[in-house]
Parts: sequence; C-alpha cells; structure tokens
Amino acid sequence: MSSTDTDLYPLLLQQAAALVQDEPDLIAKMANLSALIYHSLPELNWAGFYIMREGELVLGPFQGKVACVRIPVGKGVCGTAVATGEPQRIADVHAFPGHIACDAASESELVIPVRAGDQIIAVLDIDSPILNRFGAADQSALEQLVRLLEQSLV
Ligand code: SME
Repeated sequence: MSSTDTDLYPLLLQQAAALVQDEPDLIAKMANLSALIYHSLPELNWAGFYIMREGELVLGPFQGKVACVRIPVGKGVCGTAVATGEPQRIADVHAFPGHIACDAASESELVIPVRAGDQIIAVLDIDSPILNRFGAADQSALEQLVRLLEQSLV
C-alpha cells in the first residue's frame, strides 16, 4: 500500500459511517459501500459483497465486471473466508488453490467476512489487477469498514 492509500482511509471510513447510519436496508448499504470502495481506492477491478443464502454465497451488490453468481462455502477465496471465519488476503490469486476467476484481470484479492452476532452473513470481496495490491493496513482499514456495517445491523 502506498502512503496515498493510508491518507485515503480516514475519509473512506468517515464516508462509510455516514452511508450506513440511519438506514435499515442491508442491500442498499452494501450497494453504496461497494461504490464508495470501488471509486475511492486506486487499482481495483472489482468490489462488492456475496451474501449467505441457504448455505451458499450468492452475488450481492458490487461494482466491476459481471461476476459468478454462486460460490459454495469452502470454495474459492470467498468460500474459504466463510469456511475458516478468517479474512483472506491473497497476494497472488493464481497461487491460491481453487481460486475462482470471475475477471481474468484479477491478480490479488482481499475478502473479509461480515457477521451478525457470531454468524457470517456475507463477505466483502475486493479484487485488484496488481499483484500483492493489499497490505496489512488495507486489510485493517477494510475490516474497520466491515465493522461499521456490522454495527449498523444491531
Ligand atoms: N475470486 C473469488 C470469486 C469472486 S470474484 O473475485 C468477484 C473467489 O475465488 O472466491
């Protein structure tokens, strides 16, 4: 992550907090957060959510190219984030066993589980056409953004 990105996150988080505040509709919040992330951070080719529906991940609001619609738990980077309950920060998606290539341009990826209580209800998925695009500080800032969304659900 560049120093420019570090500078972007305080404003991004402020804007995210405003977008999720006082709005009960989860889809509307996810839609605006996707647009916020995609248009605020450089070097992304996809940003959006997959939502847990009847035991599998289903495509939710996003920005970027057309994507695969359903991802089983345990499959791909997104399904692995659900199966393990842990964020997945992947420097080179081609080296990740079972990576699902929705956009051939993707080289690195960051996936963060979204919880309601202790249940994972969705994942935030961000892709970049640059190898090793996401550092620890990106992960930490985007985890904070997901926490804002989670807190807005209670
Ligand atoms: N690459 C993901 C699939 C979703 S797309 O990146 C939008 C995965 O392996 O789970």
